[in-house]
Amino acid sequence: MTTSYLFLFSLSLISLISSSVALTKPHTPKPNNAFILPIAKDPITLQYSTTINMGTPAVTLDLVVDIRERFLWFECDESYNSSTYHPIQCGTKKCKQSKGAECIDCINHPLKTGCTNHTCGVQPFNPFGEFYVSGDIGEDIISSLRGTLSNVNVPRVISSCIYPNKFGVQGFLQGLAKGKKGILGLARTFISLPTQLATRYKLDRKFTLCLPSTSNSDGLGLGSLFIGGGPYHLPSQKIDASKFLEYTPLITNRHSTGPIFDNLPSTEYFIKVKSIKVDNNIINFNNSLLSIRKKLGIGGTKLSTVIPHTKLHTLIYKSLLNAFVKKAEIRKIKRVKEVAPFGACFDSRTIGKSVTGPNVPTIDFVLKGGVEWRFYGANSMVKVGRNVLCLGFVDGGNEEVGPWDTSIVIGGHQLEDNLLEFDLVSSKLGFSSSLLLNKASCSHFKGF
Ligand SMILES: *[C@@H]1O[C@H](CO)[C@@H](O)[C@H](O)[C@H]1NC(C)=O
Ligand SMILES: *[C@@H]1O[C@H](CO)[C@@H](O)[C@H](O)[C@H]1NC(C)=O
Ligand SMILES: *[C@@H]1O[C@H](CO)[C@@H](O)[C@H](O)[C@H]1NC(C)=O
Repeated sequence: MTTSYLFLFSLSLISLISSSVALTKPHTPKPNNAFILPIAKDPITLQYSTTINMGTPAVTLDLVVDIRERFLWFECDESYNSSTYHPIQCGTKKCKQSKGAECIDCINHPLKTGCTNHTCGVQPFNPFGEFYVSGDIGEDIISSLRGTLSNVNVPRVISSCIYPNKFGVQGFLQGLAKGKKGILGLARTFISLPTQLATRYKLDRKFTLCLPSTSNSDGLGLGSLFIGGGPYHLPSQKIDASKFLEYTPLITNRHSTGPIFDNLPSTEYFIKVKSIKVDNNIINFNNSLLSIRKKLGIGGTKLSTVIPHTKLHTLIYKSLLNAFVKKAEIRKIKRVKEVAPFGACFDSRTIGKSVTGPNVPTIDFVLKGGVEWRFYGANSMVKVGRNVLCLGFVDGGNEEVGPWDTSIVIGGHQLEDNLLEFDLVSSKLGFSSSLLLNKASCSHFKGF
């Protein structure tokens, strides 16, 4: 009780300070979105990342946001020597809740923060290199440089730290954007940060992404990750963007889909796409690809923040490409030589402009619940050079060898400037479609 009171109090303090109002006496604060973290986009890798502080003294961690990963992990070297760190011992309740897989000792290094004996071990996964190692789990205090976390210290947050070279593994950060120290995992697990914070502060078990389409580093290009629910205030408008949300159920895939395979249901976020339209016409392909096959967990549709462009099973991809090219032709859009990995590119001088980006055929995902997620030019087209725009969906192949073969994986470019609320209590996804329609975006949230 005391903690949550203090916590709310510090939130009201922040808002008062940030609006430059002198603080005379504390007002009774109203619970707001509990936590907001900034999201930046790396211009080279197109990865999205956030920044937190960890430990005492604090180290600053830039972490790539991955909704598929199960927990927060980071590489911790000598600079992480924290007096508030508590290793989680193997065999404990917290170790079980964290799905600890093994018991780790600190070998070939002196004991230090993140390298202790008899410690609960998990398997942090690098989604770019597609490999994992063993990592200790421990608890430590987190705070943030920017965002509302800045004045709120959250003690005893569980994460995993990988001591470089502990297992002779070098370069575990391979593939992560320059300067990034690990991954902020947001999958549906007990120890993902949203669930830990929601449990601790009795917040809604929800997190909401607003991924930026720009990558300015001057503070203008930041999107946000809200943890704990709305309202979601967009800078250009005085209104709460949750009113733009429509909802579709989050589907449970009863089969593990990685990164670590076990006998448990997938912790990833699946939705049900029922059909796909291009300029309002349903396209044809073998529709059984859109269902998750009960026995194997193959098929269906999930979301990813670490692949830059939506991947489609070859049959879906070909159908979409053909339909899009035909509709583009009707609009007198000139096709030019394609640029890998894309299959259809166009002369942008033959494409009009609109508030939602290049004026191209619309692509709709018709979803369970009778709602449609529309992708306009800003989300469907990728600029690859002067005067060249390509359809930003890629061929995901047609191999069906295991449960990692999801037919549609919706990637970052298609998620940008969309507000996406992952509601883990009601198990539904709220999506806004392009905020540009409402003259808003995810690229200049205030408050950082
Ligand atoms: C870690 O910090 C403690 C003081 O908090 C200090 O005594 C110790 O030497 C430090 N260890 C390393 C490896 O820097
Ligand atoms: C930690 O474990 C290693 C390997 O099992 C062992 O060599 C070392 O003595 C242990 N250290 C302590 C302080 O128990
Ligand atoms: C559609 O795909 C499913 C699963 O891949 C397959 O079993 C079925 O035979 C296909 N149907 C047709 C008409 O190709």
